[in-house]
Amino acid sequence: MSSLHERPTHGAVGEAIPHESAALHVTGQALYTDDLGGRLGGLLHAWPVQAPHAHARILAMETAPALTIPGVVRVLTAADVPGENDSGVKHDEPLFPSEVMFYGQAVAWVLADTLDAAHLGAGAVRVEYGPLPALLTLTEAIEACSFQGNASTLRRGDVAQGFAEAAHVFEGEFEFGGQEHFYLETNVALAQVDEAGQVFVQSSTQHPTETQEIVAHVLGLASNAVTVQCLRMGGGFGGKEMQPHGFAAVAALGATLTGRPVRLRLNRTQDLTLTGKRHPFHAVWKVGFGEDGKLRALQATLTSDGGWSLDLSEPVLARALCHVDNAYYLPHVEVHGRVAKTNKTSQTAFRGFGGPQGMLIIEDILGRCAPLLGLEAHDLRRLNFYQEGEATPYGQPVRHAARIAEVWDTLLERSDFVARHADIRAFNAAHPHRKRGLAVTPVKFGISFNFTSYNQAGALVHVYKDGSVLINHGGTEMGQGLHTKMLQVAATALGVPLSCVRLAPTRTDKVPNTSATAASSGADLNGGAVKDACDQIKTRLAEVAAGSLGTRSVKVGALGVHPDDVRFENGRVFPVGHPELGMDFREVVHDAYHLRTQLWAAGFYRTPGLHWDRVNLRGEPFKYFSYGASVSEVEVDGFTGAYTLRRADLLHDVGDSLSPLIDIGQVEGGFVQGAGWLTLEDLRWDTSDGPNRGRLATQAASTYKLPSFSEMPEVFNVALLERATETGVVYGSKAVGEPPLMLAISVREALRQAAAAFGPGGREQLLASPATPEAVYWALDAARTAAQTAVAADD
Ligand code: MTE
Ligand code: MOS
Repeated sequence: MSSLHERPTHGAVGEAIPHESAALHVTGQALYTDDLGGRLGGLLHAWPVQAPHAHARILAMETAPALTIPGVVRVLTAADVPGENDSGVKHDEPLFPSEVMFYGQAVAWVLADTLDAAHLGAGAVRVEYGPLPALLTLTEAIEACSFQGNASTLRRGDVAQGFAEAAHVFEGEFEFGGQEHFYLETNVALAQVDEAGQVFVQSSTQHPTETQEIVAHVLGLASNAVTVQCLRMGGGFGGKEMQPHGFAAVAALGATLTGRPVRLRLNRTQDLTLTGKRHPFHAVWKVGFGEDGKLRALQATLTSDGGWSLDLSEPVLARALCHVDNAYYLPHVEVHGRVAKTNKTSQTAFRGFGGPQGMLIIEDILGRCAPLLGLEAHDLRRLNFYQEGEATPYGQPVRHAARIAEVWDTLLERSDFVARHADIRAFNAAHPHRKRGLAVTPVKFGISFNFTSYNQAGALVHVYKDGSVLINHGGTEMGQGLHTKMLQVAATALGVPLSCVRLAPTRTDKVPNTSATAASSGADLNGGAVKDACDQIKTRLAEVAAGSLGTRSVKVGALGVHPDDVRFENGRVFPVGHPELGMDFREVVHDAYHLRTQLWAAGFYRTPGLHWDRVNLRGEPFKYFSYGASVSEVEVDGFTGAYTLRRADLLHDVGDSLSPLIDIGQVEGGFVQGAGWLTLEDLRWDTSDGPNRGRLATQAASTYKLPSFSEMPEVFNVALLERATETGVVYGSKAVGEPPLMLAISVREALRQAAAAFGPGGREQLLASPATPEAVYWALDAARTAAQTAVAADD
């Protein structure tokens, strides 16, 4: 068979087709987990009892009053759990807690015939709390030495030597905010138990296998007694990698105890107040540059705000540490990382998984230091790119390092950067109250799970007697287009038209022991597995076809057909070079069946060559790097700090795209979501000492500002890097899901440039994150003040 990356000349991969469910999405016909409950008789609805304290002991709980509400069937508490009362993988997340760890934590769940009854029932449960002191901010946690999990250090060379060699040494501090996932579909689970006690949970989960495992351990069952299915998600963005497990377990527990199907769907406020978000970070740093502007040494301490429990905080931190270099070679590095424990929701995976936080820190450093070095920020960045042959601080050679500069230079040219940079200078000189900023930033993002074991996937492919194909794989669909790509891979591998292939929902009883659909690796891993299954079937069919085609080939003077010379293309099977002698795929399948040939196969893929020492942060955790760059232009109003994103130009490397429309969509969506994180989305908790201390203040779309069409850049040019085949990956493609989010860093850097333009050159321009209009106002106000001080000094 052909190697993994080789593409046949004809085939569905690379075709610009719409998302497999696009028409269903836009007409409202696509079903989501919560749409399925209505089809079941006797459905029960679940509602949480949420604690009104950030930290408190539960002194007493009385559930009886809830049962007097008509329609209330049962109140679930810790006493009901037959297995382990824990919903996390770190065993630090009691499903029904005895100690409240964050404001709004669910302490019990009420099941009722209607949602209203469940809601009223939850209000009737009497809970007595003994409030305890709560830590909310990173500063409070650091002062109190409140940390969790393992701290780790990324180290290379000798920073002391690096600083000694440096001509310029700067120090600084940077604290920035998290981000709410705000997937359109909130967390939901629907559980049923059949007559044999088999538990079936439909869950909006990125990690069905782990949901299955947690449901099983809460119920005290073996994994084979629990099946989890994910039809599709209305967005996950990392927020459904671990957070769904507890909700699935509550629904499954309810179904087990009542014998009735249970639906648990969070409303928006519940989802916002119960589930984890992107980790905010705090960083203190010291950086050294040579006379030539080259980075000599970086020393830093990164503290992430993990919230009340660990879940994915350690791997998120590891990815942050593995991305503080971004695209830059750092000869001497010492970066410490630790996870703070606070009385907030348990912060978790979010598109980029710590990578954006690590990269934001180095990009902030470069943006701040460039004027102090007397350099343009874009020159300082370009100067420090990795060169071929160099390795990351954790010891991984940077494969295709030259691509960073290639993407960068191509983008600068296509976006007319140099000329626009000059235009903006002229504009700013002419406009005292409006300033424009233009910035370009690179992205280098490692692809694969750091945790090596996760880099495996399975698939199950059936060819039916009529030649139709049904595929199943371990990945989940959250809007990112994975299923579309898998259909394209299967059609290409079997040489049949796309219309012959159907995809069945992700289920743990079809493909077991799957990894989360995360780390952008869904298509790489599951694509490898789907292709493996198809290749096995095709090998068997080629044997059959060689026989059937043999007699025909004699007509053109051949002695017969070797199985290796059978070609499968667009539903036809023929000897190489002789399409006219071919037969239909379905005829070959028909013959194969009668010759008693196995027409289905289980496929498997494991990413080769990975190794990672997670204690010392050393190894080659990534199969390859994904590259990109973006140029953003903004205009800022000097009276209010209000700004517009006038234009964005993005160039991103997805290898040879499996599905260009999908990939462009991922790049656009990632960029806008990243811009939301960096410029609009401002999570605020009540940090006062009042009775609502710890309450999430931004618990609705009215107070939590999301990017929408009005925040799209006025001019938005998005392109995929051409001729970028990635060998060793399915059909030469590269992962795309997360990296483009970090392209949005150029928006923030453009805002910094614009704010700085209100003041004199050569000064360090600070900018808070998110750079809301208010934050931009304070930034430009500082610049203006510096200008006045300079004028006063001249007088
Ligand atoms: N795109 C959409 N539309 N919805 C999502 O929830 N999640 C992102 C990204 N793109 C997401 C998305 C995240 S966090 C990841 S890790 C990848 O998709 C996961 O899918 P993949 O591995 O198939 O790229
Ligand atoms: Mo994505 S944060 O890896 O689910």
